[in-house]
Amino acid sequence: MKADLVLKNGWVVTPQQTFKGGVAISNGVFVTIGTNDSLPDGNRVIDVKEKHILPGLIDAHVHFRDPGMTHKEDFATGSTAAVCGGITTIVDMPNVIPPTENAEQVGVKKRIAESKSLCDFAVLGVIHQTNSADILPMARAGAIGYKIFFGETIGNLPFPDDGMCIEVFSNITESKLPLCVHAENRQIQHYWTNKIKAEGKSDPIYWEQTRPYLCEAEGVSHLIFFAENFKTKLHIVHASTKQAAWMVRDAKARGLRVTAETGPHYLLREPSDMAKVGPLLKMNPPIRGKEHADVLWDGLLNGYVDMIATDHSPHTLEEKGCDINGKMLKPAIWDCISGFCGVETSVPLMLTEVNKGRMTLNHYVKIASENPAKVWQMYPKKGAIALGSDGDVTIVDMDKEGTIDPRKLHSKNVPTPWGGWKVKGIPIGSIVRGHIQMWDGEPVGKAIGQMQTPILNA
Ligand code: DOR
Ligand code: ZN
Repeated sequence: MKADLVLKNGWVVTPQQTFKGGVAISNGVFVTIGTNDSLPDGNRVIDVKEKHILPGLIDAHVHFRDPGMTHKEDFATGSTAAVCGGITTIVDMPNVIPPTENAEQVGVKKRIAESKSLCDFAVLGVIHQTNSADILPMARAGAIGYKIFFGETIGNLPFPDDGMCIEVFSNITESKLPLCVHAENRQIQHYWTNKIKAEGKSDPIYWEQTRPYLCEAEGVSHLIFFAENFKTKLHIVHASTKQAAWMVRDAKARGLRVTAETGPHYLLREPSDMAKVGPLLKMNPPIRGKEHADVLWDGLLNGYVDMIATDHSPHTLEEKGCDINGKMLKPAIWDCISGFCGVETSVPLMLTEVNKGRMTLNHYVKIASENPAKVWQMYPKKGAIALGSDGDVTIVDMDKEGTIDPRKLHSKNVPTPWGGWKVKGIPIGSIVRGHIQMWDGEPVGKAIGQMQTPILNA
């Protein structure tokens, strides 16, 4: 019998090995994986001409802003940017309007995304002071996990106080879903922000000083304490400090189910870059010095930082308070909003690092596909080139070179600190359950995205 789609004459990459051959996909799942000779005939057969066939890459941290903030991004534009960047599944953040804070809103987001998304998606529910009773209903509605914004962020969502955390952590443990946390201590953050402001330091370069490492480190240690007591699956989003990475390493060594992600900006940028690209690089937590980046790299290579995720957080340039090159147009960095695009630029940036020898392509697919799928309990449906797994593939051309051009990104708004960056290693095909969604950098698919629900006991 013919397969629906056959990709042949490529290099198939898994965390364990790279081999010459291809894959066949039928009814949305892999049905053959092997040498060219072993592949069946297909209704559609593509010779990928020795390009690399990776398991569909996952960005487990994006803000697609739908519903309620669709002037910044929506599920159509965000998912188009995702597939154009080689991403086949995303995890969407809940700081939208209204927030994804109960079962009804999980359903609202599911319907919005199913009608617009070019990639598969998973939905997180936000937990705050007054919705601990919504934790289990959100799980029943198909949420993949939960998020708490301990740090101040877009949407100004309140966080549960330590008393309420007793209830919250206990209910989340019962749900068997992971809790991800924006771990920044607001008191430390307010103290330093007020101090730096009082000193009249308003240039972009001072942003990092308003949230020094202690801000994140205290937050992480506090939350690991709760997670350990309640046996909660805890995931640290956007880890930016060496202290956070080390605490996650130690928690893992104690047998806790504590995981972490970091993003390309924490690995490849420095605070001094804010003098060049200004508010474009303003993010929470802030970009930090090399001593932190070195440890985050070490964590990624040695298994204590689990994954790359981008924190794709688009805003209009007016909200960013700068022009497309980062020239600040507002009086102070405080007036410029925090966050920038990432979902479309992460894969080429990281493949460039692979080409430089910083890690193998096999390790990259582990931290950009297998591990995110495992942490969010979507594995092995997602995150694997394996028989019966979803037929998600990212095809990459490791020799192709390019320059990141903000004007060519597919998001609704394109603030990016990566404009002008030279890359080598570019995604040229994104396939979601056998549907070709991007080819040669252009979106070619329809809104076929499906919501991913957790595979418990995975
Ligand atoms: O800078 C940020 N912006 N950090 C976050 O954690 C959230 C994000 C946003 O929603 O724009
Ligand atoms: Zn975020």
